[in-house]
Amino acid sequence: MTSDHLLDLDKAHVWHPYSAMFNDVGSELPIYPVASADGVRLKLADGRELIDGMSSWWSAIHGYNHPQINRALKAQLQKMSHVMFGGLTHEPAVELAAQLVALTPKALQSVFFSDSGSVSVEVAMKMAIQYWHAKEQPNKQLFLTIRNGYHGDTFGAMSVCDPVAGMHSLFQDILTQQYFVDSPDCRFGQPCLDEDVAEFEQTLNTEKDHIAAVIMEPIVQGAGGMRFYSAEYLHRVRELCDRHHVLLILDEIATGFGRTGKLFACEFADVTPDIMCVGKALTGGYMSLAATLTSKDVSDTISQGDPGIFMHGPTFMANPLACTAALASLKLLLASPWQSEISRIEEQLTAGLEPCRTMNAVQDVRVLGAIGVVELKNPVAMAVIQPLFVDAGVWVRPFARLVYLMPPFIIENEDLEKLTSAVVDVVSKLSS
Ligand SMILES: Cc1ncc(COP(=O)(O)O)c(C=O)c1O
Repeated sequence: MTSDHLLDLDKAHVWHPYSAMFNDVGSELPIYPVASADGVRLKLADGRELIDGMSSWWSAIHGYNHPQINRALKAQLQKMSHVMFGGLTHEPAVELAAQLVALTPKALQSVFFSDSGSVSVEVAMKMAIQYWHAKEQPNKQLFLTIRNGYHGDTFGAMSVCDPVAGMHSLFQDILTQQYFVDSPDCRFGQPCLDEDVAEFEQTLNTEKDHIAAVIMEPIVQGAGGMRFYSAEYLHRVRELCDRHHVLLILDEIATGFGRTGKLFACEFADVTPDIMCVGKALTGGYMSLAATLTSKDVSDTISQGDPGIFMHGPTFMANPLACTAALASLKLLLASPWQSEISRIEEQLTAGLEPCRTMNAVQDVRVLGAIGVVELKNPVAMAVIQPLFVDAGVWVRPFARLVYLMPPFIIENEDLEKLTSAVVDVVSKLSS
């Protein structure tokens, strides 16, 4: 298929994330056919190569087309690509569950696999509701969260995304009305004062009989604003949840598997959630797979209560190919000096993005682990900014007021330098 034909068909029939169809009039939002991807490079159909600054939305931590993951998948393909998980089990799922239990905080012992991050959040929310139902406290059905959060696009997940800044305000009237408090002002590295948790504590205090769980992204609020908050805040949230008999769900879908410099961001606060969601980088970005992990208390209570089973079971639960990709990705990650790689990336992002700090268009520059963020004062015009990055030979996909980098962990200094320079150049054009 020629690129032109592909783009015509794409325009006619294919819906892209957070996009309109028929965008062929007036303000063209560009779309780029990718022919292949290898290492940290996306190869466009027209022959251009782009250095990847996005890891395909937090997921491709080892880059693309990795020989070890490819080999593992080919071997699994010869055995079985899929088999239902009801009444059957298989080695990739069991091995992966055991690995996840070993890597995550000790109390998390039970693993429920699902097909995407959003679904794993739905599963976590249903688990919390079923937990209290089993404890004969059926009024505890709602959730408390902080503003600026993002947990996915399905209805339960949408109900705990930021109600205003979030992308889902359109559905507000039919979403369950959850409890929201302001997101913490105390930034990462800062202490958390009593006043920082006052509203949170107050809400728990008065509404705990209706709240099944607190749900939050630990330390890094991703798509809701790329904010990094104090580890002490998370620590205090855990204490408050315990004191008020409310479960804590931590959504590690974006932060999990090393991105922040810890294997899981909850480690910054030395906090163990009752329920944890992982996804995205779980398979090294090869396939869609997520998991919801719980403590024995949660899984036993659900299993022993009425109706005695957990009410969820996706068709592609624990897909053997996806579990195999996850096992291969984890093996690569754990065999690599990932901590020092993340420190190296963190240092280079900090130095490389520093020139943005004094630019007119820039509100703030912040870096944590392998995440570099330039927050602008005004939203970007995608139709303008996207081609500027592509012309600079990099793949950077800003949203709203955020231009950010989260490259694959394997990126070399020279390529990372090209990424940060491109951000500095493009943002300086917006500032002039
Ligand atoms: C923190 C967080 N939770 C949940 C999700 C939803 O995951 P998915 O897109 O796989 O459904 C995302 C996706 O960006 C996320 O960043």
